[in-house]
Amino acid sequence: MKPDTALIHHDYQPPGDFASPQIAVHKASSVFFPNVKAMRERNWLDKTGYTYGLHGTPTTFTLEERICQLEGAKHCVLLPSGLAALAQVNLALLKTGDSILIPDNAYGPLKSLAEGELQQWGISHRYYDPMEPQSLADNLQADTRLVWLEAPGSVTLEFPDLPALVKLCSDKQVLTALDNTWGAGVAFQPFDLLPQMAGSRLGVDVCVHALTKYPSGGGDVLMGSVTTCSDELARSLKLSHMRLGFGVAGNDAELVLRSLPSIGLRYKTQDETCRKLASWCLQQTAFVQVLHPAIVASPGHAHWRDLCAGGVAADADVHSGGAAASLLSLRFDPGLSQSHIDRFCNALRLFKLGFSWAGPVSLAVPYELKSMRRHAPPELLQGGFVRLAIGLESAEDLIADLSQALSTMG
Ligand SMILES: Cc1ncc(COP(=O)(O)O)c(C=O)c1O
Repeated sequence: MKPDTALIHHDYQPPGDFASPQIAVHKASSVFFPNVKAMRERNWLDKTGYTYGLHGTPTTFTLEERICQLEGAKHCVLLPSGLAALAQVNLALLKTGDSILIPDNAYGPLKSLAEGELQQWGISHRYYDPMEPQSLADNLQADTRLVWLEAPGSVTLEFPDLPALVKLCSDKQVLTALDNTWGAGVAFQPFDLLPQMAGSRLGVDVCVHALTKYPSGGGDVLMGSVTTCSDELARSLKLSHMRLGFGVAGNDAELVLRSLPSIGLRYKTQDETCRKLASWCLQQTAFVQVLHPAIVASPGHAHWRDLCAGGVAADADVHSGGAAASLLSLRFDPGLSQSHIDRFCNALRLFKLGFSWAGPVSLAVPYELKSMRRHAPPELLQGGFVRLAIGLESAEDLIADLSQALSTMG
């Protein structure tokens, strides 16, 4: 054998007694079969065998299992971004003539997908007000195949009565899909929304998680997952996942696996910092509204308290118990022009202007809500709006940064 060949066809086998808890990074396109019989028989669909890198490696199968563990699910597929995961659910479960319902405060690109490709393919959509279960009930029609849910809404962070919305859909046998990126499998269990009522299991049918956020935690990986407890839905999801050629890289999967053990700690620490900032922001006259589900005056606080804080009443303006992701939105005094608010954003030093959240660096994004919402209360659309994503810096430093930026507004 020539040296070049020997470098490829080497005898390496991982040592059997190398019992490290860290997961090896397996990377492959081809996977070898010992013979034709094995090639014909090996089944990628039930994940009992390896057939091709795209259909899974020991690294990606392990990550899928861990995401299932985190969210209380049975099946998982991984995708190259959270947005790809949102798209995958629609592509796998819908056909021409179906209709979907989307909450008015949903993640914007999901709405764009519905208004773009889905519409082109004859899949219609309607928006509902997630804070009014009746709005969902009124929109559930014979052609409604799937209802999207988000708790809380992107950007404006209103927390819906998630069990009530899910119950309405399950009574009508309409599928539910939750964007669970905010809850992250930490704040509540999406497949068991009423754990206090043993024996009456109520959960969503499908969960999407932008692993880009908390599961990665580093701001350096883009990945998404789709999970379900249903064997039937999992089959549809896996088949379409295979047909569309979605896959994730072994190194990226390894980065998420490395971060997962600390997700609870990071979620809690960022949550605590975020609530300190929320308390401080409530005292600032420049902000007429501070939105965060643990703030008693924030829309849907009681629903958050029931789902994520064991129903325990708040002990202050900002509830100190339960769990919440580290997003905080600020509505500025309508007397302040957009150029004032832009000056505030430009003056931030520790907060960087950038999209995404749940990484180590705090981020700020100004939003123009008027162009984003149909069902919002009119006052929400008055005044400029900025969403903060709180990272791992100290609360004192972040408050000092907000304070100096406010002082530049004049
Ligand atoms: C609520 C929510 N869902 C999904 C996504 C999409 O995730 P990704 O950036 O991995 O595509 C985001 C991204 O910001 C998000 O905020």
